[in-house]
Formats: sequence, C-alpha cells, structure tokens
Amino acid sequence: MNHPKGYFWYNILPMKKTVYLDNNATTRIAPEVRDVMQPFFGELYGNPSSMHAFGGQVSKFVTRAREEVAQFINCSPDEVIFTSCATESDNSAIRGAADWHGTGMKVITTAVEHPAVLQPCRRLKALGHEEVELPVDGKGQIDLERLRAELKGTKNALVSIMWANNETGTVFPVEEIAGICKEYGATFHTDAVQVAGKIPVDVKKVPVDMLSMSGHKFHAPKGVGIFYVRRGTKIKPFMLGGHQEAGRRAGTENVPYILGIAKACELSRTGMEAEAVQLTKLRDRLEKGILETCPDTIVNGDRSHRLPNTLNVSFEYIEGEAIAYHLSDEGICISTGSACASGSLDPSHVIRAMGVPFIAVHGSVRFSLSRYNTDADIDYVLEKLPPVIKNLRELSPFGPENDPTTFS
Ligand SMILES: Cc1ncc(COP(=O)(O)O)c(C=O)c1O
Repeated sequence: MNHPKGYFWYNILPMKKTVYLDNNATTRIAPEVRDVMQPFFGELYGNPSSMHAFGGQVSKFVTRAREEVAQFINCSPDEVIFTSCATESDNSAIRGAADWHGTGMKVITTAVEHPAVLQPCRRLKALGHEEVELPVDGKGQIDLERLRAELKGTKNALVSIMWANNETGTVFPVEEIAGICKEYGATFHTDAVQVAGKIPVDVKKVPVDMLSMSGHKFHAPKGVGIFYVRRGTKIKPFMLGGHQEAGRRAGTENVPYILGIAKACELSRTGMEAEAVQLTKLRDRLEKGILETCPDTIVNGDRSHRLPNTLNVSFEYIEGEAIAYHLSDEGICISTGSACASGSLDPSHVIRAMGVPFIAVHGSVRFSLSRYNTDADIDYVLEKLPPVIKNLRELSPFGPENDPTTFS
C-alpha cells in the first residue's frame, strides 16, 4: 500500500489474501460513497451555518442529504438528526427521554442489546429510574406477553428494543412491539444499526418513536450516525451547545460524512432487494457447508427470523477465540461475540442470555457478509475451516466422550 510519509503512519504489512466476513463489526466504504464525500474535504469546506453564500452552498448539500435519509426510512426530513455514531443516537434516545421525564421513568430493554443501549439503561437505574431487562428464549426472542405485563400501569415508560441482534442476526417483531407500546402509551426506541441496508425500514409501517443507525455498518465511514425522532416525541437534547440540527444536536455538522451516509442510504434503497437475495444464498451455502463438514456444531439465533447476512455458530468443545485466531492466519476475518466485547475472554452476554449449552457457549463465532462477498469467499472458508476445527478438537481436553457438564 502507498501511504504519505510521516511520523504517524504505521508500516502496513502487505496483506495476503483477505476474506472479510466481519461486516456486522464494520464494512468497507463503498467507492460511490467515497466519491460523493471527496469535494467536501477540498473546495467545499464551508460551514453550513455561515451567513455567506460560500457556507450556504454547503448547507444545501446537507439539506439534500437529509431528504435522502428521510426517503430511506420513509419519514419527514425534519425528523432526521445527524450524529457521530449509533452509540450517540442510542444515548440520545435513552438519556434524552429520561431528561425530559425528570424522575420516575420505567425503561424496558432486553438482555441481548448492544452495550450502547444496555449501559445507558443501567445508568438510569443507578439514577433512581426503574429498569427491566427482558430475558430471551433459546432463539433470542422476547416474550411479548412479558413486555405487556411490564408496561401495564406505567405512566412514563420508555421501551428500547433492537430491530435485529448484532451477534446472531435474530430479527425482533418490531411492528408488534411498536403496537404494544402505543397501546400502553410508552415511547419506543429501536436500535436499527444491524438492519440498515439489509431489510427495509419504514417508520410509517413500523411506527417507532426513535431509531438509531450507524454509517459504518452499511458502507459509509465510521463517525456518522442517524437519529430518527418522530415529531412530538418527548425528549431533551443530549448534546448541548450550538443551534445545529434545529437545536436538537449541537456541534458543527460533519458535512463530508453526512453526504457519505446519505449516499450509502441511496445505494441501499436502490440495491437492497437484490442484495438480500445474494446474501441469503451465500450465507445459507456457508451454513450448509459448515454443518456438513463440522460435526457437533449448532446454529445460534432464530433461523426463520434472521438477517440475510449473519450466521452465528457454536463449535462445541473448543474456543471461538482459537478458531478466529487460526482463520485470521489464513486471511479470514470473523468475530467472536461483538467487536466491542473482543479483548475479553468472557463469553458473549447474548449467547449466554439465550441459554446456549455450556459446551457450546465458548465456541461461538459470527460470520457476517456484505455485498462485496463472493462465492469464491465461501469456497475458501469451507476449504480452510474444517481442518482448523478438526485440529482444535484434537487438542481439546473435552469432547462428546469427555463432556465437562457431566463431571461430578
Ligand atoms: C446493534 C448495535 N448497536 C450499536 C452499535 C454501536 O455503533 P457505533 O459504532 O456507530 O457507535 C453497534 C456496533 O457494533 C451495534 O452492532
């Protein structure tokens, strides 16, 4: 790779063949997105809030970008707020609602949310609000009757439930959840980070009050997010300061990235249907190949309500970290747990919450595909993975004949 010389550039080793199957962690920036952003790093550097025409012309591009995002999720442009990432959008929803209510809010979430939702919910609990984390079943789904029971009799309730899980790809019944929230007068926020660009999001059909998305999960750069807030939703701004985003999110707009995420929305809006077919085909071929060649392997999540690009499997009796490490040696990028949790050897909170058997919890890994994956990528994984699993099993002190869960 050619890099400008300078003290802050690391030497990047020439990579051998890379098969990138970690797209729920982050995605490659689409070349079309890069092209759209380029002028805003050069001649179009004006501040969209400036009074002069030089800034004003930039402001027009931001307006156009907001319209594109609105079209992507079927809302009005004035309901779209640009943020720095989905973590900011999630925090803005949860902390913003609590700030509006002051005291005595009940926040209901699930045990399998991303930390960007779980941590702010737990913070509210520490501040004296009531917090409930709904358990999930073996497929990673919640019990809607339990949600109803928790909402019964509440006055100020906020429900934050993800549209789809980042580790297993399990898709939640958000349309029904939105209906239940309406019935009980609760505000409903959904973390839609993993569905962006994979399945259609229409906030008229699925009437959520707030929704979060992140650019880098669907081929825009890291550092830009979307925060949808339905008109009339009771929240206070999380970021205070200037008057940007109609006073709802202070801070000078990140113009190039806003243009980038809008282009990513356009690409997804026009290409998603065909892409989902292609992703499902590749993912299912990978799943079938793994199950055929690697015994004692289970698929985690809800296979009939799952993102088209995600496959989470547990290889019993061995460690997911060891699998990821050996595949990395072959140039294959996968993940164990969420990217944010890697670095810790604790098993994923999502897999544990689903009650996956002990011998399979530690051996869980995630393959997540994107529009840039090909049949050749799947062939390569199906060639390299089975010997890795076989070798690790031979080294493992555990196995079907020596199951640690049966030790007394
Ligand atoms: C479901 C979910 N929510 C939130 C986030 C955080 O997104 P960001 O990196 O934009 O802060 C992630 C990222 O992994 C995610 O998968």
